[in-house]
Amino acid sequence: MIVNNPFAELSALVPPSVMQGYVVLMVLCVVLGTVLDMLHKQSAKYFFENAKKAQKAAKREVSGGEKASLALKTVTNEVLTSSEFNNPKRRLSHLLTMYGFILFVVTSAVMIFKYPTTDAPALIALLWHIGAAMLGFGGLWFWFFIRVDVLAEGVKWHHFNGRGDFFIVSLIAMAVFGLLWSFAQQINFAQWLFFVLFIASTTMLFGSVYWSKFAHMFFKPAAAYQKKITIADGSRENLPEDFDLSDPAVQARFPDIPEYMGKNPPPMGLGISREPPSHY
Ligand code: HEM
Repeated sequence: MIVNNPFAELSALVPPSVMQGYVVLMVLCVVLGTVLDMLHKQSAKYFFENAKKAQKAAKREVSGGEKASLALKTVTNEVLTSSEFNNPKRRLSHLLTMYGFILFVVTSAVMIFKYPTTDAPALIALLWHIGAAMLGFGGLWFWFFIRVDVLAEGVKWHHFNGRGDFFIVSLIAMAVFGLLWSFAQQINFAQWLFFVLFIASTTMLFGSVYWSKFAHMFFKPAAAYQKKITIADGSRENLPEDFDLSDPAVQARFPDIPEYMGKNPPPMGLGISREPPSHY
């Protein structure tokens, strides 16, 4: 079952050209949604103006080689391993959704364009099912247990927060209904029901890019890279440096530290990591 190409079965009723046209339409929706989102929020304008402002406040020049190394670090850390997430569960759930989505999208495209009417190599179909399972599992884990509304604000899992939840809900629905559709291939009624739900959620995911968080996958890498640049050039987004309060040089610069806190100031505490939030 999980090594079968579900699109080949579908081709008996839906011509491959219609399936392929639908994929092209979804790609266009992503491009259009992202461009409109950028124009509406003026995020590109803000991004470049902010980068210019940071450049003016720079304390040193970052060389081309250094920039290339920071770009590479952004790819290996923030993009490939979701290093921005401090919470290991959130990081793992993000890695599952991200790699699951990529596997699912790439293998769908391969099966629809290369093997629309015949069985695809077993590995491709297997990766499609694994991708959907990873995406579904990572997304449901996030939805029920990890997202801040549920974890820290006492919001019930079934509370749908409008546009903010479009992305995650349609991702989960696409993965789950896609899998159910594939498993129900021999059951006439269920097959059609799950297929309709699969297409509806896929259309919602790719058709709502303008309103949803979908485009973060393009913007976040640029933001993470720019943040690294501001640390390297010393502009630090106008934030103070990170000081080691027990460093004699720091104490000489700020004499009130040893005066009020002693020569070896204790750590200032765990702050927000002190206890899991549950005061609602
Ligand atoms: C296939 C690509 C990706 C998928 C499917 C994906 C999925 C998700 C999901 C489901 C969320 C939670 C959204 C919510 O709060 O409802 C999220 C948040 C986040 N993602 Fe991704 N992501 C992808 C790519 C990336 C990349 C490339 C980066 C960074 C370079 C990134 C960084 C983040 C960050 C920092 C958050 C938390 C931001 C926030 O909550 O607003 N993601 N992602």
